[in-house]
Amino acid sequence: MMRTGGSNTFFIHTFGCQMNQADSGIITALLQQDGYSASESEDDAGIILLNTCAVRENAVDRIEHYLQHLQGLKKRHKGLIIGVAGCVPQFQRQEMFSLFPGIDFLAGPDTYRSLPLLIEQVRSGQRAHTLEFNPAETYEGIDPVRQNPISAFVPVMRGCNNMCAFCVVPFTRGRERSHPFSSVISEVRQLVASGYREITLLGQNVNSYCDPDEGRDFAVLLDTVSREASMSRIRFTTSHPKDISEALVRTIAGRQNICNHIHLPVQSGSSRMLGLMNRGHSIEEYREKIALIRKVIPGVVLTTDIIAGFCGEQEEDHQATLELLSEVRFDLAYTFFYSERPGTLAARTLEDDVPEAVKKRRLQEIIDLQNSISDELYQKAIGTVVEVLAESESKRSSLQLMGRTETNRAVVFDREDFNVGERVHVLITSATSATLIGRPEHSPVTLS
Ligand code: SAH
Ligand code: SF4
Ligand code: F3S
Repeated sequence: MMRTGGSNTFFIHTFGCQMNQADSGIITALLQQDGYSASESEDDAGIILLNTCAVRENAVDRIEHYLQHLQGLKKRHKGLIIGVAGCVPQFQRQEMFSLFPGIDFLAGPDTYRSLPLLIEQVRSGQRAHTLEFNPAETYEGIDPVRQNPISAFVPVMRGCNNMCAFCVVPFTRGRERSHPFSSVISEVRQLVASGYREITLLGQNVNSYCDPDEGRDFAVLLDTVSREASMSRIRFTTSHPKDISEALVRTIAGRQNICNHIHLPVQSGSSRMLGLMNRGHSIEEYREKIALIRKVIPGVVLTTDIIAGFCGEQEEDHQATLELLSEVRFDLAYTFFYSERPGTLAARTLEDDVPEAVKKRRLQEIIDLQNSISDELYQKAIGTVVEVLAESESKRSSLQLMGRTETNRAVVFDREDFNVGERVHVLITSATSATLIGRPEHSPVTLS
């Protein structure tokens, strides 16, 4: 059905992780199939959809803020439909309607196929919702609409069967399910044929991937993808430390186009805290995994996530986190202070007893230390030549391009006559703690 006119255009605002970004591509495809068209901005959209994240409290606050702004838009634009999708409605359910009177419909991560129906129901005067879990849903057969013509996300699994005590994801995304091996491979083939230069395999815990048809594991999937897309960079995220296998590490080392970068969230440097967090491994085991990774993959870059001030955290636990950071020297750490999420294991069984000021102080100490480490690592790159995949024009100047090294470091360099999508050898001439800066160089790569 072809739907014409402004009221049949939609705009999606995406919050949260890469999985949510990938889902927004699926939502776009589903709505387009039904005759709706994507609009460039929210100002001329008839339907505005927020695809939301519930992982931390401030994520919910941000949505609240955004919804308030939409209320103003709704007053001026009669007939504007506002929907909320993703992890927040799945978590807060119909309570969302009373919290935010302006919302017209709600959809959860497993119910996007019913979005056209929800919109129809709203148009017939109802507030509508579909929030059931569907443990069989992997959106097979839907060809997602992608914004970025160079780099593509390919979800290989949905949901999560772990029960990390702090985490809401198992409650927002439901049971873990892996996509069929054959459908991942056919998606990858299609991406290769369309000229994508980078493919990132996505899952909350990719290491527990298990092909529903023939039981093949993530190492086999990654190896096969890297062969199918031998001219593209292959990335994957996220790896849970307890499940990262030697076979996987050897696969990364053995395939040149699999990037030598592993995001390996540790959360805390203290075994006692890891136990309370229900992470399923000790800090000694984490250190052993790091040692194995570094031995098997020379030049590998590691990044991590840290939570400061989880329930029961003492000063010595915090010191253990700082020591781990100094020892491992991650390239980058995503750092958060603990925010209790209702319904999680921690909210039900532990006391959120670290005062906010202490959480913030510890977080700041973690950030300061990590910044100084990142700074040192980035300074060391000055004078080396790295291979950069150009992803976009730099935000600051059209005379510069932005791209990433294989190890996921951001690089801004002089454009000269290079284009987005090309791989460029760049001589690094300066650095901040988050970006390398340089100019194209026509000699061999020395480091990446
Ligand atoms: N599946 C990924 C994590 C997804 S959530 C994994 O297992 O590593 C991304 C990050 O958000 C987590 O690694 C954690 O550091 C942080 N996080 C999750 N819940 C949180 C909470 N309640 N408070 C603060 N940070 C949290
Ligand atoms: Fe959350 Fe743990 Fe699952 Fe990651 S592995 S999504 S932190 S429960
Ligand atoms: Fe957030 Fe949901 Fe991703 S809670 S981190 S958007 S899985």
